[in-house]
Amino acid sequence: MAKKDLDKLAVVPTHVAIIMDGNGRWALEKGLPRVAGHRAGTENLREVIEASVEFGIKYLTIYAFSTENWKRPQDEIQGLMHIFRTMLDRELKNLHENGVQLRHFGRLEGIDNALKKKVLEAIDLTKDNQTLILNIAFNYGGRDEIIQAVKGILADGHTPDEVTEDLISEYLYSASCPDPDLIIRTSGEYRCSNFLIWQGAYSEWYFTPTYWPDFGREDLYQALAVYSQRDRRYGKIKTEKGS
Ligand code: FPP
Repeated sequence: MAKKDLDKLAVVPTHVAIIMDGNGRWALEKGLPRVAGHRAGTENLREVIEASVEFGIKYLTIYAFSTENWKRPQDEIQGLMHIFRTMLDRELKNLHENGVQLRHFGRLEGIDNALKKKVLEAIDLTKDNQTLILNIAFNYGGRDEIIQAVKGILADGHTPDEVTEDLISEYLYSASCPDPDLIIRTSGEYRCSNFLIWQGAYSEWYFTPTYWPDFGREDLYQALAVYSQRDRRYGKIKTEKGS
């Protein structure tokens, strides 16, 4: 894909969020254990992050482990924890040098101390980077996020009159991050699975049958090309582009 192809994109979304689905099926179809699919789904992640920078995306949010994923078999859970730890060890330096800021969406409780420490160190190390904000949703659930926000609002003593959309947004993990313009789900599933349920109220969705480990730069470009043709109306009947 050449530079001129990028020029064809009428608009590039500021914030793209991805449900990286299909790792298990990718592995099973190859006769491999499910965790091999998760491992493969880390390899293409690097390509997708690099392509996001190249395409001018400013925020990328990836759904890596949901609050419901604790119901999976122990060996798969341990495998995912190990992959996250290894990814931080292996990729952090490169991400930092390329101006990527890491943020975490979700609960740190429940994650073992060594991994928690690595996540907090990675967030601290990269906090001033501005090329791409990479939000990793790990031990994340959209309903849980809203419960935590409501608790925070009550704990801070806000009155009912003060409760607005902006106030709730400030108490979410995504505070200071614009809502996702585009949410991509791979693997041919058509549901939101408790992902960014508040922030995604007016997001455009893009579904592809491609399993996550096979999703790369060209697939991301395709998703952006489709997005750039969408008419976002936000409940109105007609938009001037950009209004
Ligand atoms: C969904 O596929 C994928 C996950 C639950 C895990 C996603 C994790 C990665 C891609 C690893 C890299 C990311 C980080 C930051 C740790 P699935 O297992 O539900 O697949 P299936 O629907 O085919 O079973």
